[in-house]
Amino acid sequence: MAAGKGTRMKSKLPKVLHLLAGRALLQHVVDIAAELSARQVIVITGHGATEVEAALTGRKGHIAGCFELDFVRQEPQLGTGHAVQQVVPVLRDDGVVVILSGDVPMIRADTLQQLIAACGGNKLALLTIDFADPTGYGRIVRRGDTVQAIVEQKDASAEQRAINEFYSGMMALPARQLKQWLARLDRNNAQGEYYLTDIVKFAVADGVAVVAQKISDALQVAGINSPLQLAELERACQKRTALQLMEQGVRLADPARLDVRGSLQCGQDVSIDVNCVFEGQVTLAEGVRIGANCVISNASIGAGAVIHAFSHIEGGASDPKDLVEVGAGALVGPYARLRPGAKLADEVHVGNFVEVKNSSLARGAKANHLAYLGDATVGERVNFGAGSITANYDGANKHRTVIEADVHIGSNCVLIAPLTVGAGGTVGGGSTLSKDTPSGALTVARARQVSIPNWKRPSKTK
Ligand code: UD1
Ligand code: MG
Repeated sequence: MAAGKGTRMKSKLPKVLHLLAGRALLQHVVDIAAELSARQVIVITGHGATEVEAALTGRKGHIAGCFELDFVRQEPQLGTGHAVQQVVPVLRDDGVVVILSGDVPMIRADTLQQLIAACGGNKLALLTIDFADPTGYGRIVRRGDTVQAIVEQKDASAEQRAINEFYSGMMALPARQLKQWLARLDRNNAQGEYYLTDIVKFAVADGVAVVAQKISDALQVAGINSPLQLAELERACQKRTALQLMEQGVRLADPARLDVRGSLQCGQDVSIDVNCVFEGQVTLAEGVRIGANCVISNASIGAGAVIHAFSHIEGGASDPKDLVEVGAGALVGPYARLRPGAKLADEVHVGNFVEVKNSSLARGAKANHLAYLGDATVGERVNFGAGSITANYDGANKHRTVIEADVHIGSNCVLIAPLTVGAGGTVGGGSTLSKDTPSGALTVARARQVSIPNWKRPSKTK
């Protein structure tokens, strides 16, 4: 169910498209369905339907191997029962249906497996939980031990409001039964809505067993209605990730100051200092050290490499050539910026205020201070001096710079591409090169130094 408006988010973006750990809330729920090996996933959209459908269809190919993804629209939105009624035409008669909410993203697949087991193909299984204060939720009304009904807050008597056990919004039941019961819903209640929860009464009347599967982990049923709840759930979600990483042996300076907005794979003996953000797919090989305040997206960092504080590594996600690669034993930062397509081989050094874009640096190459390497192929052991840059853009097109092995580029040079600096060559500091240079030579391209003896400085006229 993803048709609701999410008024309290006070946002133009439909609520279910807000991000938790870098993924839309609804994407979390759909991914959980994938984990359950669901045969069919039907997303009920309404508010912002076009946007919501577009956000997920982008992923359709990604998950198409697991299940069929369908969308149905609910317009207008007349309650949860009305929402599920829209599904009837596309829902098959056999099998078990699991109903989930697009704004309850932390539910775990193993919990839902237990719920499906409790349904057993012929019962109505409700996921429930106890809260000291369940205000606003539908209460589980029992006679003896057996569940009789779910009564919504606004319809509940004082006695029913005192019940601590409530319905989480998730249930599992046979599709055939669901279809029959949906046809019997009405709007005779305090909110004038079609309540999905009314089907519990029909199950009881039809002699179908109703089981309440009670859990104790409140996080799994936490829904999001406001920016505050979203931020709180983000922290809870990040803590879960941090604990998983630490269980694998990753050393986090502070598990409360880590943000993983995608997937982070770590080898043995990885350490991560405070306030680092990881986005997209990031791999850190054995012994990698990440300094404080780094932002790292779509990158693979080789064994023993060190990323010093305040470095920004921003690989692209759409094409593997845009991934950033940092080789084993490389040193990056502090304050380095590696942009899409930066490929650093083993033992490369990229120091402070150095920007690298769509460039490869071969083993042992160094650019330690204040430099720009864009669209460059840099050979082994090259030393690229402080303040030097490749001028890769002529205002219309980008061109390549090739710096062959063992070249030494002095400080403050401008290499105007396209250009090749021949192997073993040296370029004098302050040179502006616009032509290829021969191997092994010293090339200097700047005004020759002259000194004028006894030079009189101009003096001030009145
Ligand atoms: C519902 C349950 C309540 C339960 C609570 C748990 C009903 C009648 N009540 O409450 O027993 O304790 O969830 O959170 O089911 N939605 C639609 N179309 C609609 C209305 C809602 O798609 O017309 C979607 C919402 O986007 C949301 C989900 O259904 O994802 C739940 O709706 P919400 O309004 O939050 O649930 P309640 O009615 O408050
Ligand atoms: Mg409601």
